[in-house]
Amino acid sequence: METSEPGRRIFLVFWTCLVQLISVWCSCPMCYCRKLALSCKEVGTLLQLTIKCDKCSYEGLWNSQPFFGKIAAGNILLSAGILFSGASATKVLRVLSHMGVALMSIRSFFRHQKKILFKAVHQLWSEQQLWNLSHLQAERESIICGGDGRADTPGHSAKYGTYTMMELRKNIVIDVQLVQSNEVEGSNHMEKEGLQRSLNFLQNTWNLDIETVITDRHAGIKKWLREHQPHILHLFDIWHVAKSIKKKLLALSKTGGCQALQGWVSSIINHLYWSVVSTPPGLTQLIEDKWKSVVEHIQNRHTGFAGQFQSCAHQPLEGRERQKAWLPPHTKVSTEVEKVLCSKRLLPDIQKLSPDHQTCSVEAFHSLVINFAPKMHHFSFEGMECRVMLAALHWNENGHRAQHTTKDGRKTYSLHYPKRKKGGHVVRKVLEDASFGYVASLLTIVEALCKGEEDDGEIPQPDPGRIPEALAASYEHPNKEDAVRARVTRFNAA
Ligand SMILES: *[C@@H]1O[C@H](CO)[C@@H](O)[C@H](O)[C@H]1NC(C)=O
Ligand SMILES: [Zn+2]
Ligand SMILES: [Zn+2]
Repeated sequence: METSEPGRRIFLVFWTCLVQLISVWCSCPMCYCRKLALSCKEVGTLLQLTIKCDKCSYEGLWNSQPFFGKIAAGNILLSAGILFSGASATKVLRVLSHMGVALMSIRSFFRHQKKILFKAVHQLWSEQQLWNLSHLQAERESIICGGDGRADTPGHSAKYGTYTMMELRKNIVIDVQLVQSNEVEGSNHMEKEGLQRSLNFLQNTWNLDIETVITDRHAGIKKWLREHQPHILHLFDIWHVAKSIKKKLLALSKTGGCQALQGWVSSIINHLYWSVVSTPPGLTQLIEDKWKSVVEHIQNRHTGFAGQFQSCAHQPLEGRERQKAWLPPHTKVSTEVEKVLCSKRLLPDIQKLSPDHQTCSVEAFHSLVINFAPKMHHFSFEGMECRVMLAALHWNENGHRAQHTTKDGRKTYSLHYPKRKKGGHVVRKVLEDASFGYVASLLTIVEALCKGEEDDGEIPQPDPGRIPEALAASYEHPNKEDAVRARVTRFNAA
């Protein structure tokens, strides 16, 4: 940590240099004789030197590290550094071992996690959640939540699902729920289960008045919210809907007789954003009618529509503007386009598109989670849960500052739909270095927990009943089949 005070700095000291220091500079504190015999013991990264005087047989013990309670500080700090940075313990220990650094075993890392580190993460996360939720409660403003689930997929079926609730006006993560697939009937249900748990926690434990929840169009969630939370306004993220319409239109434009559609796809998508953003709150039928008018527009009809939106909003077309590749009416292409744009399944959802808040920051958060819990690695339930909480601590501290990178290596940008752009969007790069104040807070808690280890009463124990039973198969044989398959594929490819 670049901020550590001088007294806390740690150096890599080579054994030869230490011996040189002792032989050149040290003498027996009793008789000042320079003939000292050293015997050493290693405990992980800690070196314990017993120094004996040849002449007066004085004997002293020197430790290369201070202690937090009974634990050598260097050992617990190494484990803490690994977990809090979201690194892989195996990798980091191997790096150090390749350098020749004296090390603890990976088992010690797991023991540190279980005894100290998980508790520290839980404690800081609950403190922050308490702080943030109390503020929201005190402001007495209704709360706009964005929710989304993320499945981690080692191999084929997801083992854990993470559900994230973000307060979108403040852009902070207010709750994360981890669901293990064997807690529900299969991994398809994890997203709904996560949302239910999160709402239950926010509404019942915190008594928060959640006005709006914005999600994608997950069918199970739609139905559940409608039936069980009728007072919550459930809106959909525009981007998800735009993406699925675009996919359908592009597929259609590749079929026979429909090529003329190709040039219209992006205008149709822009029109979707415009229909939602240009409409005052509450006028949901108007959104739908605006949306449907695009079917008329692309067939070169601009006035005399049925419903609340009777003519196009653009100026009368003049000169070259009239020469567009209009779709001829009553042809296959115009009928098929209308089927896609005005389908019975789609139209009710168009009315429920969210005009101002979207879930893109929840997705950006999920790509941040990957930095703390890479999908290729297996984690225990608690390990995974803590890594998600760490990601949330990081997000809440850094908000818009950190720039995230998606799976395929693209930088993440944030999309904004300012009123002045009338439905157009602007793309903003999310930049600047991240800060790590939460790590400093965590280390303070770790030190206190280590020192209080003897009297267990002080340490908040996470409720053990909360942790679901491990998935036996994947736990004991971590993805062997996948590993073998990957190996075979690689050999075939070569
Ligand atoms: C949330 O809590 C953290 C830590 O307690 C604090 O720094 C941050 O300002 C809070 N954010 C909001 C929006 O309340
Ligand atoms: Zn002596
Ligand atoms: Zn028009």
